[in-house]
Amino acid sequence: KRKSFVDALLAKMTLDEKIGQLNLPSAGDFTTGQAQSSDIGKKIEQGLVGGLFNIKGAEKIRAVQKVAVEKSRLKIPLIFGMDVIHGYETTFPIPLGLAASWDMNLVQQSARIAAREAASDGINWTFSPMVDISREPRWGRVSEGAGEDPYLGSQIARAMVYGYQGKNLADKNTILACVKHFALYGAPEGGLDYNTVDMSHTRMFNEYFAPYKAAVDAGVASVMASFNEVDGIPATGNKWLMDDVLRKKWGFNGFIVTDYTGINEMIDHGMGDLQHVSALAMNAGIDMDMVGEGFLKTLKQSVSEGKVSEAQITQAARRILEAKYDLGLFEDPYRYGSANDAQKEVFNASNRAVARNVAAQSMVLLKNDKNILPLKQKGTIALIGPLVDNSVNMAGTWSVATKHGSAVTLLKGLQESVGKNVKILTAKGANVEDNKVLEDVYAAHGKVVDRDSREPSLMIKEALNVAEQADVVVLAIGESAEMSGESSSRANIDIPASQVRLLNELKKTGKPIVVVLLTGRPLTLTNIKDTSEAIINAWFPGTEAGYAVADILFGKVNPSGKLPMTFPRSVGQIPIYYNRKNTGRPLDAALTDKCEYQRFRSNYMDECNTPLYPFGYGLSYTKFEYSELTVSKTNPTGNQSIQASVNVKNTGNYDGAEVVQLYIRDLVGSNTRPIKELKGFQKIFLKKGESKQVSFNITPDDLKFYDNNLKYDWEAGDFDIMIGTSSADVKTARINWSK
Ligand code: IFM
Repeated sequence: KRKSFVDALLAKMTLDEKIGQLNLPSAGDFTTGQAQSSDIGKKIEQGLVGGLFNIKGAEKIRAVQKVAVEKSRLKIPLIFGMDVIHGYETTFPIPLGLAASWDMNLVQQSARIAAREAASDGINWTFSPMVDISREPRWGRVSEGAGEDPYLGSQIARAMVYGYQGKNLADKNTILACVKHFALYGAPEGGLDYNTVDMSHTRMFNEYFAPYKAAVDAGVASVMASFNEVDGIPATGNKWLMDDVLRKKWGFNGFIVTDYTGINEMIDHGMGDLQHVSALAMNAGIDMDMVGEGFLKTLKQSVSEGKVSEAQITQAARRILEAKYDLGLFEDPYRYGSANDAQKEVFNASNRAVARNVAAQSMVLLKNDKNILPLKQKGTIALIGPLVDNSVNMAGTWSVATKHGSAVTLLKGLQESVGKNVKILTAKGANVEDNKVLEDVYAAHGKVVDRDSREPSLMIKEALNVAEQADVVVLAIGESAEMSGESSSRANIDIPASQVRLLNELKKTGKPIVVVLLTGRPLTLTNIKDTSEAIINAWFPGTEAGYAVADILFGKVNPSGKLPMTFPRSVGQIPIYYNRKNTGRPLDAALTDKCEYQRFRSNYMDECNTPLYPFGYGLSYTKFEYSELTVSKTNPTGNQSIQASVNVKNTGNYDGAEVVQLYIRDLVGSNTRPIKELKGFQKIFLKKGESKQVSFNITPDDLKFYDNNLKYDWEAGDFDIMIGTSSADVKTARINWSK
């Protein structure tokens, strides 16, 4: 039915109208009243626009749609996109935080809620999930992805696609997902955004491609091309990537959109003029041109000059029309959103309750000396720091739909969570950064900067005064939302000096200090680790920030988040990741832990090889003890499967959840293999004193890898099966698997 409908429509379309379907302008300040008179309005009337993005509000969207379906010749409805990245108005933790929950049901639920809210407000396409694997904490966009691991990243990619797209795209509360940024955007040299990427094909296929493929396998409807080059050709014009890998090898049959002006940027990449790069993109398999209008301005001429075939353009237009058909837009172009639906759905109490829980589940307890946490509901708490009464920073990067000021501050959250036996005193203590220049840049880009103009010493004095009166200091420090995200590369990922100064001064009071860390990326915490008694990494928790932080601090929720990305000791260790190769000159395991230098081995003279906090790490208020690992067979053959099990016991004083992680090492291969790779995990809940047998089913599929001929298979031999509480703390059993 879809095919005959789209065939019939395409038969009526002129070449200009087909090219029009491939055009995706940003709505800019396009508003209801100007719908027809604006430039974009005129283009819509002429059938030269396929969709719009960055327009918020059901009524505004309806007004624009009206122009398309009433004024354009063929009355083809528009598709409406938006960066709904970690929630709509109800904002969940940044994606890196979501990943730290290791809870796929919650991840899927958060995407489902985001889709429901967005759809009720007129949006039918989100530019999410962002699944770029990254080992580069200097790269600000790590906040938008799931971290460093292909297995965890793949699980999350799948959960998010299911969450957004639901069972049936024609349901009016589901929206198209768009997996991005294809491909390898997370591996820019030096962590510099938009920078060159260069890597081997085995690394691409084994370590970086998996989550994109998982999204495709989950049925993702669209893919966004990345800005970077791949094998020397920008992804946007890379036929091997888009056609050979994505479409032919993986069977993707949705549509591919560029990133913002991705086609035009190929001119600066040095690929040719606008006509040439537009033809390159079209011939590579790109279907939709975001913002740059290279397709609109040049494709017709390229057809007349034989540089692009009309058939290729028809095929791209077909894909866009098919997506619109799947969304049910031809049946009813106004089916997504109404003021009434939005009123019921957006930022409602039940969505916010889920966001509060997700935020608490995403937090990672990095340190808890003498079990200072959870805090008792008594005494005086000094709540200090530039991020304690700071709503705008709580939602984090890419929270396009979040209403300004709607996020619950830490101050409000704590005040509302304590009983009358607790007194809360507060002070700002410092600005997020001393660097006013940077803040001016943020301000120039319309970001709210909460800068205190008082002398730093006066602010510290006020904070010390407050701390002196308290039993414990809760210090909220870290990054402002603008310090991570797009175009926020940092060469130094320490906590900014203004805040470290504040912490060091507070330390002198002798009061115990609990750091609540707000961050969009792994930071180097070496210089603050020993200055505080406890550190809870809250990421950017979203609109329910204050409540979720209070839930964790007072133990209403026992922390169970685990790091989805390694926290380095220092910038010089980057890239640092758990699934590294052994090399021919590994450091002795015993020396690795002791951080002792060994000459002519692979290690630093002036830094340990180990990270500050490894991948998969995260503490709890309770204690989990792991038994030795048992395997059902030590010598499996062929396609048999085996079970690897441990017994996990909650031996502490609180109920709590634990993420039990399975890693495998392939000891000998035709290609060098990582020292361990995550192959499974289970998040279990154990009451105090309870224990549970946790088993993983392992099949030869879990042993497969791409060799350097890109053959995907497993090889017989010895394997270490490891189960543990983090990538650095596991129980091991060796098996031999023969063919
Ligand atoms: O979706 C984003 C992308 O991640 C970065 N450039 C702009 C796009 C649309 O806003």
